[in-house]
Amino acid sequence: MDQGVTLFDTADIYGNEGFLEHRFGDNEKLLGKALKGRRGEAVIATKFGTTHNQGIKGDPAYIKKSVDASLYSLGIDYIDLYYQHRLDPDTPIEETVGTLAELVKQGKIRYIGLSEAPVDIIRRAHTVHPITAVQTEYSLWTRDVEDDILPALWELGIGFVPYSPLGRGFLTGNIKELEDLSESYPHQMFTRFQGEHFEKNVKAASLIEEFANKKGCTTAQLALAWLLAQGDQIVPIPGTKRLERVQENLGALEVKLTKEDLAEMEKIAPKGIASGGRF
Ligand SMILES: NC(=O)c1ccc[n+]([C@@H]2O[C@H](COP(=O)([O-])OP(=O)(O)OC[C@H]3O[C@@H](n4cnc5c(N)ncnc54)[C@H](OP(=O)(O)O)[C@@H]3O)[C@@H](O)[C@H]2O)c1
Repeated sequence: MDQGVTLFDTADIYGNEGFLEHRFGDNEKLLGKALKGRRGEAVIATKFGTTHNQGIKGDPAYIKKSVDASLYSLGIDYIDLYYQHRLDPDTPIEETVGTLAELVKQGKIRYIGLSEAPVDIIRRAHTVHPITAVQTEYSLWTRDVEDDILPALWELGIGFVPYSPLGRGFLTGNIKELEDLSESYPHQMFTRFQGEHFEKNVKAASLIEEFANKKGCTTAQLALAWLLAQGDQIVPIPGTKRLERVQENLGALEVKLTKEDLAEMEKIAPKGIASGGRF
């Protein structure tokens, strides 16, 4: 916050004990502690709907319980942006968004977001109540959203929040060998960090690193600057546990990419360059 960051992204399911052992609300509680006395300076985004043992939940009763739990964990009296984390296949989106619209009326949340929602769902949701933001993975090596999601969002006037904008750490130049994988990130869950995919992806990332060296910025800054250059309504949310990396990543705002730079990057990192699916 001292560096001017205002948007903080969490979820009821995020925990600080490691993704696989998390407990509900752990990360929200941590964020709530940090917000003490500075709530007004922050835009707080949190999410509901992914559970440990009940699948995905988006029914009215579940949402009403979840929002109160998140408000309690965060220690705040309203959430700025409340996302449905994943779609509940058993609850029509109209019912979910209708319930969220009630929460807006009650003042418990200010804006509604969807995460990993396909275009038809976004359109249906938006007719019930304006959707403010969609959050889905997007980075130099995960560009699926360019096909249909981004054009639909620009048409509807909805913002886009790219998650894992650093390719879960790959687009930083810091991962060259398996030993470099951070113990605090569940890399083992993702095929791109395994076996021959890993080898290929290290090579692909090294080309991006070379271009960053040429531009005089770090690889992470280049990856974020590239995202920022894709549209004014794009707000990437890089994750890190280290203050010096927060500072480094914020330096992306100073990296200006020309049309020629973007064309060069298109050659170095064309769509589909990553080896292995994104999950
Ligand atoms: N909606 C969803 O379903 C969803 C899914 C995933 C993530 N998200 C959101 O998106 C946020 C970011 O995504 P993410 O954490 O998955 O991936 P990310 O931001 O692409 O990458 C995070 C990884 O990069 C490392 N890192 C960060 N800055 C670095 C730098 N300058 N140099 C070297 N390494 C650096 C971090 O390690 P250190 O921590 O050790 O610095 C961490 O391992 C999450 O915090 C979460 O809020 C949402």
